[in-house]
Amino acid sequence: MANHDPVILGLETSCDETAAAVVSGSVVLSNIVQSQSDLHAPYGGVVPEVAARAHLAWLPPVIGEAVARAGLSGFEDIDLVAATRGPGLAGSLIAGFSAAKGLALRLDKPLVAVNHIEAHILSALLAPEVEVTAALFPALALVVSGGHTLLYRVAGVGEYSLLGRTLDDAAGEAFDKGASLLGLSYPGGGQISRLADDAPATGLRFPRGRPRAGNPALDGMQADLCWSFSGLKTSLKVHLEKNPPGERRALAEIAAAYQEAIVSSLISVCDRGLRRERSVLAGGGVLQNRLLRDRLAGWAHSRGIRACLAPREYCGDNAVMVAFAAALGRGDGRKEYLDMDIIPANYPF
Ligand code: KG4
Ligand code: ZN
Repeated sequence: MANHDPVILGLETSCDETAAAVVSGSVVLSNIVQSQSDLHAPYGGVVPEVAARAHLAWLPPVIGEAVARAGLSGFEDIDLVAATRGPGLAGSLIAGFSAAKGLALRLDKPLVAVNHIEAHILSALLAPEVEVTAALFPALALVVSGGHTLLYRVAGVGEYSLLGRTLDDAAGEAFDKGASLLGLSYPGGGQISRLADDAPATGLRFPRGRPRAGNPALDGMQADLCWSFSGLKTSLKVHLEKNPPGERRALAEIAAAYQEAIVSSLISVCDRGLRRERSVLAGGGVLQNRLLRDRLAGWAHSRGIRACLAPREYCGDNAVMVAFAAALGRGDGRKEYLDMDIIPANYPF
């Protein structure tokens, strides 16, 4: 750890992971993520009230463990506290952001409020082989998670313009809803991908939905730089009604075709968005998907640009990316922060 880099305690509670991490510069000293997915699995999705209560219960032990594992002498070694301010579920955000305020107050250190989407974008720069220099920019950034599917043009760290997004389901939501139709438990993205690994090569192909120009939801964005995944889920439903899969092999074949439709649609939009960028930065829970990682890397190579993919351990929601965003100088850092509130939606960055 370089001596001059501040030691940053990060907290992340925007959805259903209770996470704390300690980072100094780009060195990760600890990373604790307590997933709540078992709590939400019986409901087939995240229940906001359950999530908020679980954050309240888990924050103290998760923070304590992050500090203990970081090899610090104690809380007094922390130079600043960074926390996710939004977007996300209001009750979940309040739990983590209030804890961060309390800690910063107790330690008499500044608080940095971080945008969750920006943290996912910057997580792409956490790979050890990536050096954050001007040579990476301009870049495209793809954020793919259970709640978001977004494409940005990035002039540099902190300079983003939105190019496109999904008009309905997020890519992770498409995976999860597809998984549920296939009888898999929530969250099903990883299970679809594991099933697909065993699939025989077949000709099954699901249609790729594309938003139409003139759709009011585009809100000024280009239709061909946006996604629509809701039709895909319907195609799967219809296919399953007509062809109930009897055995695992048939299920694997369907999972593979469904995964292929999502992944190829993500890559096609990136390709249409590419102008003079030198790299693609990608992050978010769905980037744990092996096919997506391979395809993004292959596509970037074919286009002569660099692929900066968030390391798998920092794809899902985590606090390392939040602390790292603060380490890069991003976020709203303040010494007087008690009146700062969460921003659950429409948080510009
Ligand atoms: O970023 P994340 O942890 O939470 C949100 O902010 O949404 O992303 C969770 C999403 C879920 O939809 C989950 O099914 C998906 O990421 N996911 C995957 C894989 N692993 C997680 N989707 C496809 N393939 C995977 N291997
Ligand atoms: Zn997220």
